[in-house]
Amino acid sequence: MASRDQFNSRLGFILASAGSAVGLGNIWKFPFEVGAGGGAAFVMIYLFFAFVLCFPVMVAEIAIGRKTKLNPVGAFKALGFKRWAIVGYMGVAAGFLILSFYNVVAAWAFGYFVQMVLGNFEIGKAFGEFTKDWLTVGSYALIFMGTTAYVVSRGVSNGIEKAAKILMPTLLIFVVGLVIYALNLPNAMEGVKYYLSPDFSKITGEVIYKALGQAFFSLSLGMGALITYGSYVSRKTNIVTAAATITLVDVSIAFLAGLMMFPFVSYMTGGDLVAMKEVSGGAGFIFQVLPSVFQSLGGGLGVVIGAAFFLLLSFAAFTSTISLLEVPTAYMVDEKKIPRKKATWIVAIIIFLIGVPSMLSQGSVDWLTNFVQLPGMDKSIDFMSFVGLVANDTFLPLGGFLISIFTAYVWKKKNFNEEIAIGAENSNGKFLQLYVDIAISYICPLILGVITIVTIFKTYMGIDILGLY
Ligand code: TRP
Repeated sequence: MASRDQFNSRLGFILASAGSAVGLGNIWKFPFEVGAGGGAAFVMIYLFFAFVLCFPVMVAEIAIGRKTKLNPVGAFKALGFKRWAIVGYMGVAAGFLILSFYNVVAAWAFGYFVQMVLGNFEIGKAFGEFTKDWLTVGSYALIFMGTTAYVVSRGVSNGIEKAAKILMPTLLIFVVGLVIYALNLPNAMEGVKYYLSPDFSKITGEVIYKALGQAFFSLSLGMGALITYGSYVSRKTNIVTAAATITLVDVSIAFLAGLMMFPFVSYMTGGDLVAMKEVSGGAGFIFQVLPSVFQSLGGGLGVVIGAAFFLLLSFAAFTSTISLLEVPTAYMVDEKKIPRKKATWIVAIIIFLIGVPSMLSQGSVDWLTNFVQLPGMDKSIDFMSFVGLVANDTFLPLGGFLISIFTAYVWKKKNFNEEIAIGAENSNGKFLQLYVDIAISYICPLILGVITIVTIFKTYMGIDILGLY
């Protein structure tokens, strides 16, 4: 058997994993959730969850992957726990589902990049028409998925790692450049003030719950994406410090995204606090509001800044679609023995097709647009939001919960600790190791278990067991 592909370097692994983590979650979702959730108060809760709860789960995923050198399904089997392979299957299924709609939002971002280059700033007002136009969105989605599949089909070191090594530094330059630019706009400081002054009165149970979901999604946890990437990591790499670095990069990019977005909003609203709150707290925020901000910068400059922003968003999404596609692909390669190229294209085509109803659910097909009204909802949601609920809000916390239980009590901490000690011989991460040990046994299963149960009751039965809503 040919030897398994590996990341060439520790840096390559970190960049690819940070690429997986940094995505639409950081630049699209994070700022509007901050806007809706009390500014810095939300940010603080988010940071707390990222480091206290998510980071240990990340270490566990990477350790399982590196120990077994297999995809999530194969990994649980190889450790000798066939029944637990169900967690791996759930992860592969989540990969299919999340990528199916994530690719559609990525297609919006990419489509907006093209519109900015063409100087069509009116697109912000026509966001609804744009997303409804399934043929256009579908074409962009096809390009996005095709490019993703191309990279994944080239393998780990030649595809995924190379792409990350080019895209991540570029992304960082774009982010920093745009932050500096935004901070120098008139009224920028009012926006920063809004972003960085906590409004604790906005912190409800629901907001805390959202912050946790956001941190989990943003770090790509719960579906074995990091088991898969971990399976390509060399035994020389210190897993604990690598995971800490990935977490740090992810939250930093999210933080910087806010530092660019709020000055933009403040500039547009003339520093008006009430208006700022209104425009920043919705899902359509960057697609509906930002184009007119770019327009007001004037023709040439607007094109440059607008195109740069949506290209940045596309790049961020791209390194994430790569990781989402890699999970089912690795499963096909390891478990079904299908050659990588073929496996990648088969999976990509299937996922693209699963995404078609999501594309159609934005206004063009009625029953998909008003797909379902779950108990406790005051109106129906579209197919795309429904897939999001099932995959992001249900599978990921459940997966994370099961992975923590598995690591601490089934695989056992002795084996887990042995694995993370490899590559960490003269490490200064001893304190972190100790923390991970405690967190994975008590903190993570407890909180993630509660979250999973609360979600299932609330989402599917309309029962609010903790009185969060
Ligand atoms: N973390 C990415 C984002 O913030 C999305 C993502 C990529 C993801 N791979 C994942 C989420 C795996 C969950 C699991 O946009």
